Amino acid sequence: MKRWWLSLLLPLTLFALDGRSVYEKKCAGCHKLYVPAEELMANFLEHNNTLLHLEAPTVNQLAYRLKQQIGDPKGDKDVQLMEVAAFVHEYVLAPDRQKSVCMPEVMVHFETMPSLKGKITDEELEAVAEWIYWYTPPQKVAGALRFVDFEAAKKEAKATGRGIMIEVTSPTCHYCKKMERTTLADPEVVAAVTHSFVPVRVDVSKERLPEGLSWSLTPTFFFLTADGRLFKTVPGAWVKEDFLQILHEAKGAM
Ligand code: HEC
Repeated sequence: MKRWWLSLLLPLTLFALDGRSVYEKKCAGCHKLYVPAEELMANFLEHNNTLLHLEAPTVNQLAYRLKQQIGDPKGDKDVQLMEVAAFVHEYVLAPDRQKSVCMPEVMVHFETMPSLKGKITDEELEAVAEWIYWYTPPQKVAGALRFVDFEAAKKEAKATGRGIMIEVTSPTCHYCKKMERTTLADPEVVAAVTHSFVPVRVDVSKERLPEGLSWSLTPTFFFLTADGRLFKTVPGAWVKEDFLQILHEAKGAM
């Protein structure tokens, strides 16, 4: 990390160049914008890049790795942004795989990036780096499960003749996150849950489970009647087909 870049970069933020259009003109030929993380992992770790045939890391990959690997991920965002901008500046002008922030398993699939020296200005680099830093993947909000707290769920379940499904989760639970991104975000699963149950999500790092329930692993799914009687407990993370079957059985047992 060369400190002198920091002082050089500060005044450049005054120029309001549109980072997105710089990306489209100078980077998009090689760096695709967005591929969901699960697809990227499957492509690189299981299919040797034969699914997506990517030539370079995607922007969502870059944004994620740069924020994770450079500076202090938990520190001041403006400071980290300057550090990331300095890294991108240097990398684009003098690509050096030794300095790569991407996973080695991913990098083996790429040629070394050609230097853009003389083809891009400092202002453009600053703008594109800032745009990459703040890039956020599109959110799937439409049709997502709508979680409510337990007291609200009891009322809603009673009023609509449904049961209650409690998902036990925690911030460090990798399989919870994976299932939340995949199975629980799937439109068919969302429809099946919503049809028969009111969903409640309990983060056990922050709150206790209602009705004296106890858990031993995350995720765990508890199915209860509207008046709070537990009738089915399902520990573990599930793929769509299996979880649809579980929902079907839970509905039958209610
Ligand atoms: C001709 C294709 C090409 C173009 C154009 C290109 N890149 Fe790259 N870039 C690559 C490839 C391939 C890699 C991965 C291999 C490597 O790091 O050398 C890469 C890697 C990177 C990395 C480093 C990733 C890491 O692991 O540390 C950054 C940052 C980056 N590019 C930014 C940019 C930006 C910003 C632009 C546009 C201004 C751009 N690139 C334009 C092909 C390209």
